[in-house]
Amino acid sequence: MSDWSRWSDSLRFLKNIRTSGTIAPSSKFLIDRMLSPIDFSAAQCIVELGPGNGCVTRTLLSRMRENSVLVCIEVNSEFILELESLQDPRLRVISCCASTISEALNKMGIEKADHVVSSLPLAILQGTLRDKILSSVDSTLKDGGCYTQYQYSLNNFSDVKSVFKNVTLGFTLRNVPPAFVYQCIKS
Ligand SMILES: C[S@@+](CC[C@H](N)C(=O)[O-])C[C@H]1O[C@@H](n2cnc3c(N)ncnc32)[C@H](O)[C@@H]1O
Repeated sequence: MSDWSRWSDSLRFLKNIRTSGTIAPSSKFLIDRMLSPIDFSAAQCIVELGPGNGCVTRTLLSRMRENSVLVCIEVNSEFILELESLQDPRLRVISCCASTISEALNKMGIEKADHVVSSLPLAILQGTLRDKILSSVDSTLKDGGCYTQYQYSLNNFSDVKSVFKNVTLGFTLRNVPPAFVYQCIKS
């Protein structure tokens, strides 16, 4: 990604700070950490929540196998257009709230996701919406699937832990700002 693209993405995140909750796209180091638990040779359906400018989306697509599906759920119409322009046959871009993942998957005839990768700004979401999203992720995941989520603080660790008993916490300094990564296994 060029310096100009990073600046232009940062400006868009800043313009939408109340829904993006960030000022910069995720770094390669954070993305690698987020995706490390995923076995791409076995995953058939991955759901991405809050793809934004598509920095995680592009890495997911580069690692996913040919006959798999990536369902991206985003509320910002500008980002949706940009994601659609990726024109990858495996990609389904859905304009809806992350609290309605199951409905979105059902419409596509998909019952469950192998993994859920989320960049949602949990810390700035209203409590009831956050709870709905976490429960939606839980009901969407296959047993043994991983929900991976980054955050800039540990404020919502207990919310995540109350839904997913098996949570591993990671951290990377190599992102602006440095970020925690929650890796939650559905049991
Ligand atoms: C921090 S940005 C992530 C951008 C990119 N994935 C990255 O890691 O740099 C969070 C994204 O979540 C989206 N978002 C916020 N609330 C949402 C919701 N309830 N449902 C779906 N997407 C949401 C925002 O529009 C924004 O694009």
